Amino acid sequence: MQESKNAKLVIANWKVNPENLDTAKRLIKISSSHAHEGMYVTHAVGSLFAGFLLKDNPQENIILQNISMYKEGSHTGEISAAQAKNLGIKMSIVGHSETRLSPKNPHGDEDKDVNAKILNLQSEGMWACLCIGEYERKNFDYKKFLKTQIENCLKDVSDISKIIFAYEPVWAIGKDAERPATNEEIVETIGYIKSLMPQETKVLYGGSVDENNAKEILDLDVVDGLLIGRASSDPEKWEKLLANIS
Ligand code: PGA
Repeated sequence: MQESKNAKLVIANWKVNPENLDTAKRLIKISSSHAHEGMYVTHAVGSLFAGFLLKDNPQENIILQNISMYKEGSHTGEISAAQAKNLGIKMSIVGHSETRLSPKNPHGDEDKDVNAKILNLQSEGMWACLCIGEYERKNFDYKKFLKTQIENCLKDVSDISKIIFAYEPVWAIGKDAERPATNEEIVETIGYIKSLMPQETKVLYGGSVDENNAKEILDLDVVDGLLIGRASSDPEKWEKLLANIS
């Protein structure tokens, strides 16, 4: 996916935004005006927009937010890896905390479902951006939790080279975030994740990244890029954020 090996990767995770295709196109235009050799920007768009946006943009600029754990069949509302690939999509986010099993999402994915999604993507030659992250930090063995998440999600996965991790501590994500993660926490945890994986593994950080903190987080050596939610679908914030990190 990345043009240069050391380029930082920024993924805009639009979630259920923006409301219309014109704003989606505007956001991508803003990204294009800031991307450069050292920074690659792609967009995890609402699936409905993907086909339209692929018409006018390089395939690498459009990815999906989620993908089905099923290859085909009677699963209403799902999108398979093969369908996405045949449209030109090369990558999907999987295991985002908002799609995982939780009290808020009783039908969400367990690790084994995330694993099935990765295997489906890989069988189509596609990339996965695998989100992992602990639900709480204090008095909690988050390292053990993350290690288990990684082991379960990567079961039987033979090609790690097409997996990009996003470390997203759940307590730091979204409008209900407890607080943003500190730089020390980010460095320590991403360092730990990298220690479990082959040396070239890329790890992004996500969780309350905005126009004010994006640069200092992206400048951390261990951070290979950012996964950005809320700030990525508001054209003004997005413009400021990208200007600050370009
Ligand atoms: P946020 O979301 O940037 O709005 O905290 C990040 C994410 O959910 O990927």
